[in-house]
Amino acid sequence: MPKLVLDQFLHGGDYNPDQWLDRPDIIDEDFRLAPLAGVNTWSVGIFAWTALEPEEGRYTFEWLDAILDRMAAQNMKAVLATPSGAKPAWMAKKYEEIRRVSPEGVRDPQKMRHNHCYTSPVYREKTRNINRRLAERYQKHPALTVWHLSNEYSGECHCNLCFAAFREWLKKKYTTLDAINKAWWSAFWSHLYTEWEQIDYIDWAVESMVLDWRRFVSEQTADFVKLEADALREFTPHIPITTNLMGDYFGLNYRELAKHLDLISWDSYPNIADRPVPSADTVFPDRTIGYYESDNAEVFVVTGYMHDLMRGLLPDNRPFILMESCPSVTNWQNVCRLPRPGVFHMRSLQAIAHGSDSVQYFQWRKGRGGCESFHGAVVDHEGTEKPRVFQEVAQLGKKLQQLSAWTGTKTTTAKVAILFDWESMWAMEPMSFIVKGTHGKTIRDHYRAIYTLGIPRDVIGLEADFSQYRLLILPCQYIMSEALIEKIITFVKNGGNIVATYQTAVENEYLQTHIGGFPGGKLKDLFGIWAEETDWLYADEEVKVTITPKGKDSGLRGSDYRAGWCCEVTHILPADKDGSAEALATAGNQFYAGKSLLTCKRHPQGGSAFYLSSRVNKPMMMDFYRGLAKELAIPFALPERMKLPDGVFAQSRGDGDAKAIFVFNTTSEEKVIAIPSGFHYTDVLTESALTELRLTAYGTVVLTKK
Ligand code: GLA
Ligand code: ZN
Repeated sequence: MPKLVLDQFLHGGDYNPDQWLDRPDIIDEDFRLAPLAGVNTWSVGIFAWTALEPEEGRYTFEWLDAILDRMAAQNMKAVLATPSGAKPAWMAKKYEEIRRVSPEGVRDPQKMRHNHCYTSPVYREKTRNINRRLAERYQKHPALTVWHLSNEYSGECHCNLCFAAFREWLKKKYTTLDAINKAWWSAFWSHLYTEWEQIDYIDWAVESMVLDWRRFVSEQTADFVKLEADALREFTPHIPITTNLMGDYFGLNYRELAKHLDLISWDSYPNIADRPVPSADTVFPDRTIGYYESDNAEVFVVTGYMHDLMRGLLPDNRPFILMESCPSVTNWQNVCRLPRPGVFHMRSLQAIAHGSDSVQYFQWRKGRGGCESFHGAVVDHEGTEKPRVFQEVAQLGKKLQQLSAWTGTKTTTAKVAILFDWESMWAMEPMSFIVKGTHGKTIRDHYRAIYTLGIPRDVIGLEADFSQYRLLILPCQYIMSEALIEKIITFVKNGGNIVATYQTAVENEYLQTHIGGFPGGKLKDLFGIWAEETDWLYADEEVKVTITPKGKDSGLRGSDYRAGWCCEVTHILPADKDGSAEALATAGNQFYAGKSLLTCKRHPQGGSAFYLSSRVNKPMMMDFYRGLAKELAIPFALPERMKLPDGVFAQSRGDGDAKAIFVFNTTSEEKVIAIPSGFHYTDVLTESALTELRLTAYGTVVLTKK
């Protein structure tokens, strides 16, 4: 698997010279401006199919030859894209099968982008052909550094070809219709399938079918990714292949796609303005406002989570690249506030701190037309190096140069892992009795506490090796197979520690409930509890939190703790050979007052199993994880005595003396943090020894040990 080897961070972004072919003066300007912006890379060719093949079989690569040659002459690196993200009109008209079909059976007209049928043999052949031609032509080109497959693979197609492939996929998995009917619980509403051809519509009522369909869509898209990648690998086995992903995008299990990639890249568009949109829910503001409308700190946390999730898609913690971000406003957000000065550097350096080897933008130059002509870019319609945004990009380029020593390095080794599983997200989201967003918001609650404490962490999937972690957090791991349950039990029996929450192991991999009480199977014994019923609460209701003496011993204080959203009515089970669970907190009101809210069962082999029955607010989450981290001797990025004020975060790259600690101030006020005696730090960007840590509004400081 080829690795991206760099001696400095990539800095640049999407560049579409194919939109400017009749303006060579503009293209000349782009080459003049790139070094002034400190830009050393461009991603080219992303939606360039009609510029490369304007008619079937007629190829016009000459403009791309010229661009790549000039890039090489200027020592710029090319991220070269395959063009399948947008299909040409000539192709869509001639071969209707390449156009997607909606769930209700209507075929799309030729429009937009990202909407080809990934099963269509014609589209597959056309894509393989153009990819091979690109790879053959540029295999030895000195500018070629990374392959960028397509663009933001997404969506699904319900055409006959896709259904035929789905039925084949089902035959491989289940062999017989009888097995499918059992797995899908088909007796419900008379959904028994007696002929394969009857499976030609995805019925949301058959939840297990929907889950299989989502698995199929992910695998079929991954198969298309493989087809694209194979066409390139034939000529350029040495060039790493990536595709730009979208964080925790709902539609695709990215772990399937990652199997065919050498490098992860993703597109990050946080909206860090300087104030949140007001929310009606005071305990959980995220009930009514979205990620893009939260306050700076929250957006920063969620972005950190996405970086970690993306980094974790490939093994050994290798660096990823930030393929797209915006140095100014993103035109599709609800309110296009300008990021305040400093904010853009802060979020770019956040990516670097989380293991990115690049800061790349969408896009280099604003287009004159089309629906994205007012999307922020490095070069404005004004066209020179004068604008503020261009100057900020140039300054960031200098900072990236100063940080070159960390190119290719890994983030600080984590002892904590948070599990994110696409399938549990898929399972919980459509369920009518579950408050929307519970799965994602629960993950973020736990991530937020760990991140805010400055504890290095990974976000992992089910197949990861758990044994490298001391603490494993399972937020709403709703689907659990028997094998996963066994894996978790083994982890704890070997001395590992886990925290699980409400809605753990409710169903198996066929979306059939575990019977015998929740959490499913032997997990009741592992946690020492039985969650009998779940109460889903209104926005203005809360569950009062009472801390037990055991809870006080673990560092829980109690005064401002609140619970709500949902609460499981949880019983502590009688002791077994491993002992019993103990309550750290109990419900203080509601008809289940006195029932446990948070329990811990300590196992004789040294592991422990915590169960949180209700969503609890940030102060309680913070105290809980602070106490647990101390107990488990889990390291922090900065010395624990260096208390970070609210809205300030630390994230580090490298281990031991090679560690760079990035400290970010997401607030609009200056923050000063004392450095305790005995600690000596140098500021990498100002190259000065520090006596205290002074962070300007939205400022970032990068520290190393002196
Ligand atoms: C996505 C796409 C880009 C562009 C940006 C705009 O990330 O990949 O082509 O549309 O969004 O924010
Ligand atoms: Zn299709």
